[in-house]
Amino acid sequence: MKGLEPDRSTMPGADTTARANVNVALIKYWGKRDTALNLPSTGSISLTLDGLWVKASCAFGDGSVDECLIDGSGEAGDDATRVLRFVDLIRNEAGIAARARVNTTSGVPKGIGLASSAAAFASLAVAVSRAAGMRLEPPALSALARRGSGSAARSIFGGFVEWHRGERPDGRDSIAEPILPPAGWDVRMVVAVTSSARKAISSSEGMQRAASSPLYPPWVESAERDLAEARRAIAARDLEALGLVAEHSALKMHAIGLAARPPLVYWLGATVECIHRVWALREEGTRGYVTIDAGPQVKVLCEPADAPTIAGALRDVAGVERVLTCAPGRGAEVRG
Ligand code: DP6
Repeated sequence: MKGLEPDRSTMPGADTTARANVNVALIKYWGKRDTALNLPSTGSISLTLDGLWVKASCAFGDGSVDECLIDGSGEAGDDATRVLRFVDLIRNEAGIAARARVNTTSGVPKGIGLASSAAAFASLAVAVSRAAGMRLEPPALSALARRGSGSAARSIFGGFVEWHRGERPDGRDSIAEPILPPAGWDVRMVVAVTSSARKAISSSEGMQRAASSPLYPPWVESAERDLAEARRAIAARDLEALGLVAEHSALKMHAIGLAARPPLVYWLGATVECIHRVWALREEGTRGYVTIDAGPQVKVLCEPADAPTIAGALRDVAGVERVLTCAPGRGAEVRG
């Protein structure tokens, strides 16, 4: 992989900690052209959010097995398996054999249904590669994070970020790059939590099912137009233009699931109620635009001044458990 040269100044054995924030896609990643490498069928554009982070620490040593602690628990399970598979990948790239001790801590409140895997694999990419003696530039870190979870490619960077589909079969060109830094445009994302339950159908499974939908080919075909519209809107700091294309991308993604076989519906009643509340507010002049990921939570893009009104309205929707408001956040960084 490009840029994966070992860093002679950081020998294996050193403990490294990194932190990364979650991101929310405005133009969605939904479907893969290569499942093993997490290469997307289309590009995507996201906003990295402040205050919702995952911290990862890693050290390589002379232990006899890899150790993995997730939020203080060393239990074996799907999450630990995924983390250790990722560690293995980096160990191979680094050409070392030492066993790893990995520890991740999530600063994303439990049960808010905000996929923290993007932040987890972005922070792991930084911490584990450094601990393995590599010094990777952000593009190489993005390609590496992508191997853990596609959307993690975007959490390497702060603010507005585009992840390119790429053309190469090896994925070297499927990396994210920043469009605008966090201070480049001060917007807010209001998140309405409508269920704290862990999602039944993961993003990966949902994407596989999408392939059975007659709406999938038009989704791929229309992606470039959506991306171009979003890029233009971000460059012009045009909230309405960005919001409308983001809503369109999210609703199209969920329409794919409705038409899949078997069908896939991530929404709850409260999800639909929140959409109507946001649209009603818009009629009254408060501009908020909805996006929804592989779950029932509703995220609303808006101006900072409108965030309290939107948060208040969503708090009143029956079935909404909690509402939080996030500003644009920074990219992944090494932390003590
Ligand atoms: C709906 O990145 O979680 O949030 O690559 O299989 O790990 P894997 O999927 P993941 O999918 C995120 C899907 C989404 C849209 C998006 O973030 O672009």
